Amino acid sequence: MKKNVLVIGGGGRCHAIVKALKRSPRVQKIFCAPGNAGIAADAECVAIGVEDAEGIVKFVEENAIDMTVVGPEAALAAGVVDALAAKGHKAFGPTKAAARIESSKEFAKQIMAKYNVLTAGYEAFDNFEQAWDYVKGRPLPAVIKYDGLAAGKGVVVALTYEEAEEALRDMLLDASFGKGRVVVEDFLDGPEFSFMCVVSGNKVYPLAMAQDHKRAYDGDKGPNTGGMGAYSPVPFVTEEIREKALNEIIQRTADGLVAEGVPFTGVLYGGLILTKEGPKVIEFNARFGDPETEVVLPRLESDFYDLVEAAVEGKDCETRWSPEAYLGVVLASKGYPGHYEKGAEIKGLGNVDALVYHMGTKRDGDKILTAGGRVLMVVGKGKTISEANEKAKAEIAKIDCDALFHRTDIGKASL
Ligand code: AMP
Ligand code: GLY
Repeated sequence: MKKNVLVIGGGGRCHAIVKALKRSPRVQKIFCAPGNAGIAADAECVAIGVEDAEGIVKFVEENAIDMTVVGPEAALAAGVVDALAAKGHKAFGPTKAAARIESSKEFAKQIMAKYNVLTAGYEAFDNFEQAWDYVKGRPLPAVIKYDGLAAGKGVVVALTYEEAEEALRDMLLDASFGKGRVVVEDFLDGPEFSFMCVVSGNKVYPLAMAQDHKRAYDGDKGPNTGGMGAYSPVPFVTEEIREKALNEIIQRTADGLVAEGVPFTGVLYGGLILTKEGPKVIEFNARFGDPETEVVLPRLESDFYDLVEAAVEGKDCETRWSPEAYLGVVLASKGYPGHYEKGAEIKGLGNVDALVYHMGTKRDGDKILTAGGRVLMVVGKGKTISEANEKAKAEIAKIDCDALFHRTDIGKASL
């Protein structure tokens, strides 16, 4: 029997998940809650919010959904997977308890310390004076992380003691993100990369490697964003580095979570850094990365539904990957990640001969309008990363919209 699938989310990552499911001969119908203007071409969008656990369970029951794939962290934190599992429905994603590997920096550090996962040394504090005393006595830069979800703004890499003090004051005294603790971590130096693995208890099914670009402007300048572009594969991550990351980071973490009584199902995303001593963890996420998923899933040649089902049911699954390179560039609203306008018309999309994901768009009659910070992602494909880059550039040139900007150096470390 073919399967009905519900995908939770509405951005580019969700669009990539929908497209991967669409390629599976095992899938009958794909729904997406809430989806967006681009996803609507590939799935039936339903107006349910990603945190509406009750609404999601109701939809699953009324529409004979066989599997729910959860995209965003907000849905995990709202307990969507727990609510579905409690009613006996299959859901791909970790429980709220296992998702703490992303939502609590201190929990993640404790697991890493206890199970010997390669990462930076750290101390945790809830008292400003103690934290500041500790930071003052250590070399710069100081890495200060708020212990909780802070929409990507909870990490400060302070280059001066003034900056470090201000960050600690902000997080511990002024409680900008709510009352909480901070983790002060050793500074790690090297190129970053994203290693996403599907995990089911002790089983790990690695996905292809990718690299994200978090800063807003060329040369890794400007503020941190949700990601301005990504590519896959990542040539500087050799087979030897990958094996080490798989065995000494991802596998140990998966095993540790099982041993702690919070087995993980879903995507365990290792945000890793390649230091002189080898790969180390910067952060874990409990979900597909955005925009990495948009360049990784198109490379999956084996059946994506098989993989999702294997993880949920704890079965073995082999994956096959295309050797081709995918490089995606995000087109964002001018001003993003700060203030930006919405509602500008995007022309020329019909002429683009490449994979285009909608991240924040809205349909108005036959027009497509900007409707978010990150708006579109244009993905070039090629035999090499350079070829994929040329293709992405050529296709972006066909898009006409004054309200958008993009980086021109995505993939530079690998060109
Ligand atoms: P996160 O939100 O945890 O991904 O951190 C945001 C960014 O801060 C990362 O992409 C890194 O560039 C930087 N960062 C975080 N932790 C460290 C660390 N221990 N050493 C150096 N840079 C770090
Ligand atoms: N690309 C970073 C993230 O998904 O958090």
